[in-house]
Amino acid sequence: MQKAFEAALIDGKSLAASLVERIAGDVAVIKAETGQTPGLAVVLVGEDPASAVYVKSKHRQTEAAGMRSFVHRLPVDTTQDALMSLLDQLNADPAVNGILVQLPLPPHLEAAEVINAINPAKDVDGFHISNAGLLATGQEALVPCTPLGCTMLLKDRLSDLSGLNALVIGKSNIVGKPMAQLLMAENCTVTVAHSRTRNLPELCRTADILVVAVGRPEMVRGDWIKPGATVIDVGINRVEGKGKPRIVGDVAFAEAGHAAAITPVPGGVGPMTIACLLANTVTAFRRQNKPNTTRFAAE
Ligand code: GUN
Repeated sequence: MQKAFEAALIDGKSLAASLVERIAGDVAVIKAETGQTPGLAVVLVGEDPASAVYVKSKHRQTEAAGMRSFVHRLPVDTTQDALMSLLDQLNADPAVNGILVQLPLPPHLEAAEVINAINPAKDVDGFHISNAGLLATGQEALVPCTPLGCTMLLKDRLSDLSGLNALVIGKSNIVGKPMAQLLMAENCTVTVAHSRTRNLPELCRTADILVVAVGRPEMVRGDWIKPGATVIDVGINRVEGKGKPRIVGDVAFAEAGHAAAITPVPGGVGPMTIACLLANTVTAFRRQNKPNTTRFAAE
């Protein structure tokens, strides 16, 4: 007989909704106090369908929170110089408090150069080397949205992460590396695994906290998960099969019933990422306009 699925679901949708509500409140206060409206510029180069969906959703939610949204859709053959001059213009524009260049960029563009051309004070993705360095050294930074959202979910669930064994699978600049930094800042004992890691299933079984960001459908099997672990599944994978394509995570969700808690896909990490983007835009606005002011709910 199959064992009952006992893991609690970590409801990212509802935590994100309450964060967005608080951000909208912050925006209303900013407008009333300063007469200004925080603004986010999103740059999309090319026609990648998944990126187009994400950008649309960012635009909609930015406006729903009461902020200004400026979407720049550029053709796939945009030159590096043209993109750099758009960034110069956005860096200089006082109506733009946050700038995000949607990744991946077409292969002829140099992503690192593009990211590092963004004014670090407007880098709401937290990808600029200056923000990455500030995070790594425990200083005030703009923090990448997905790992920030994962940390919020973990703290909401566990309160104190101190001393827990955390395993991050994936070492990207967008998720894995900043996730490890944030977990270290919470005093976890952190291991980062990746595609060359040996004995990954065994390593997983030592983890009290498992964060998986590899982009491989259902790669982490149920028997890799320590009973009572907290599992954060960052993957969003489209799987074609009979009938409609399914969206699945990087963890075999149906096999993870012995975890203490797990994020569903969809409805776990995804909604937190956009909420944290809005939070970072408000944070960027505050720091640009009134350094050393009161911290907001979003921070
Ligand atoms: N592509 C996938 N995730 C992200 C993200 O968090 N930020 C940007 N800019 N592009 C992405």
